[in-house]
Formats: sequence, C-alpha cells, structure tokens
Amino acid sequence: MNKKLRFNTLSIHGGQEPDKAYGAVMPPIYQTSTFAQAAPGEHQGYEYSRSGNPTRAALERSLASIESGNYGLAFASGLAAMDAVIKLLEPGDEVLSTNDLYGGSYRLFRKIFEPLGIRFTFTGMQDADALESMVNEKTRLIWVETPTNPMMNVIDIAAIAKLAKARNIMLAVDNTFATPYIQQPLELGADIVMHSATKYLGGHSDVVVGALVVRDPKLAERLYFIQNASGAVCGPMDSYLVLRGIKTLHLRMQRHCENGEAIAHFLAGHPAIEKVYWPGFPTHPNHEVALAQMKAFGGMISFIPKGGTYERAVEIVKKLEVFTLAESLGGVESLVGHPASMTHASIPKEEREKSGVTDALIRLSVGIEDIEDLKEDLEQALA
Ligand SMILES: Cc1ncc(COP(=O)(O)O)c(C=O)c1O
Repeated sequence: MNKKLRFNTLSIHGGQEPDKAYGAVMPPIYQTSTFAQAAPGEHQGYEYSRSGNPTRAALERSLASIESGNYGLAFASGLAAMDAVIKLLEPGDEVLSTNDLYGGSYRLFRKIFEPLGIRFTFTGMQDADALESMVNEKTRLIWVETPTNPMMNVIDIAAIAKLAKARNIMLAVDNTFATPYIQQPLELGADIVMHSATKYLGGHSDVVVGALVVRDPKLAERLYFIQNASGAVCGPMDSYLVLRGIKTLHLRMQRHCENGEAIAHFLAGHPAIEKVYWPGFPTHPNHEVALAQMKAFGGMISFIPKGGTYERAVEIVKKLEVFTLAESLGGVESLVGHPASMTHASIPKEEREKSGVTDALIRLSVGIEDIEDLKEDLEQALA
C-alpha cells in the first residue's frame, strides 16, 4: 500500500488487500489452530496460529500502518503486549516509568518483573530535562504514558526521545489514551508504541487485545520471537473485531474529541466542580507540549467534585445514567470510573495520592452520544 496515504485512508486500507481465496474485502476470520502442509515445512505461509494467523496478520499490518511503523504485533491484552516489551530486558536492567500510569501496568512492573530482577523507578516526567539526572548506565528502557491515566499529564515525547537516543535507551510509549489519530509516538522518536487495543482501537467494548508497533527490524524480530515463545497472542475473532474497529477510528475519535471538549468546558464552568483535568485547557500543565504533539485532546477527562470526599464521588458515579459505571474506556458509550477503587486500586494509596489519584477523583471516558444527553446526565448527577 502506498505509504503516502493519509491517516483516514490508512485506517481503512492500511496493510489490507482483498483475501486471496475469494476476494473477500474484509479478511475472513481464520478460526483455525493449524494449517495443512503438503510435505514437512511445505506450507502457504502459516503453520500454527500461535506463530501466525492470516486474520491476526491483517490486524498487525493495519496497526503498523496507522502508527507509522513497519511492524505490528497483536497480543491477548494490553498487559500481554507490555509483558513482551519488558521481556526484552535482563535481570539488573533498569526502567524509568511515569509515576501516574494505569494501575495494571504498575502491578505488572512491580509484582511480576521486579521480583525477577528488573528495577523500576516511577517518576513524574512532565519536566523532560529533570529526567536526565535519573538515568544511569543500567537504564535500558523509558516507559511513558501520555496523556497519563487518570491525571491527564502530558509528557514531551520528542524531548524524552532525544535524551533516550543520546544514551542508547529504548523509549516505549503507551498510546492508548491518544490513539494514532491524535499523536504518533514513532514519528516523535519513540522506538515502541503500545496500545491497549481494548480501548479506542477496538472502540466497541467487546474485546480485550493489545498491540505493539515498531520500525526497527531487529527489535521487531526480538518481539516476534517473544510473542511466539511466550504465546500471549490474540485470537482470530478478536483480531477481526479490532481490525473492524480501526476502520472507523478516525470518525469515532473526531466525535470523542468534540464531545470531550464540550464536557470539559461544561464541568469547568459548573459550580459543583473543584477541578477538571483535560489537556486542552491553556492552564493545563504542559498544554504547549499537548498543542505541539497532539492533533486534538481526546475524550478522557478527570475531575474532582467540590467537597472532595470519597462519599461525594461515589454518590455522583452512582447517580449517572447515560454514563455507565464500569472499568475500561474508549468505547462508543460513555463510561465513568472511580480510579482509586477501580482501575488504580492495585497502586498503594500513599503512592497513588502522590500523583493526584485521590479518593474524590472521577474519570470520564466521553463517548459519541448526543452531547446534550451527556450534559443533562452530568447535571442531574451533580445536583
Ligand atoms: C493506558 C492503559 N494501558 C494499558 C492498559 C492495559 O490494557 P488491557 O486491559 O488491554 O490489558 C490499560 C487498561 O485499562 C490502559 O488504560
């Protein structure tokens, strides 16, 4: 496929061609674990579905194309994709990670990989220059989430990429919140982009899938080896669902961003609200970085109601009707979450409160419904 195609076209056509058997425009769901061989080793490109499956391969080509990469890898979940990245490292290696990140990512680092000898340091990365003093000769990877979950902190990918390149450190960016519609970390100098494709890429809250995209062939080879050797691949049906989701990513994101902006301003002007976290506000920390690296500001918003108590937050989330109280984000439907007791419960209270995840914080994933219905729902819940 011509590399010069633009994003909206790539989200539909990137890496895709009609199926070879009958010209099916969407790839068939090759629901098979294995492939017939004419003689040992003589096959049509696929042997066993953990190592490769045509439906997954179609998704992987699409992922590479929308993230401006050369190689895509699809996994059983976002965490399985992260697991594969950390398996590039060895005991004694060190990772610098954003301190405000998805709780499951923190748990994977701390509870699975730290006992195996990899050291993690969690720090705020809003000031990219301050990071310089934290890296040492053992630092092998910088892990960045931007905007962060749930505080919406914006981190300067290009500045950190420069620092990482100069010291031969890999930079991985979790692009789940922004999606490639909004920002493309590989274009900004990152080595690895990661997604919980469960979220905006899938877009319909019907699948759990993870993704990695890279440009470097050697890095891709090592990751494909880990993907096959560790085996946390996504199945053909799930691959199909995410591929289908990606075909409307640009349309959905456009509306998520429009609705997100309207809700952010609605909340900021509401007398029952203490504070709103949304990177589109000129007063948001690193707003200039957001303007430079993001095309729009997305549909994720966090806020603290006046009073700032756990009880008040719980009262509000329970009263919402169009916003569903649920884990996850990025689907067409609006969701509300209470990070301290849901997505970030695996981070110790003291640790999460340092980065602002207090008991009163509420997180919204603004969907693509009619904006007036969303505002009316928030109005009645805040009354
Ligand atoms: C920013 C971010 N990264 C990673 C993950 C983990 O992805 P998954 O749930 O698909 O394993 C999530 C899940 O909520 C997330 O929000």
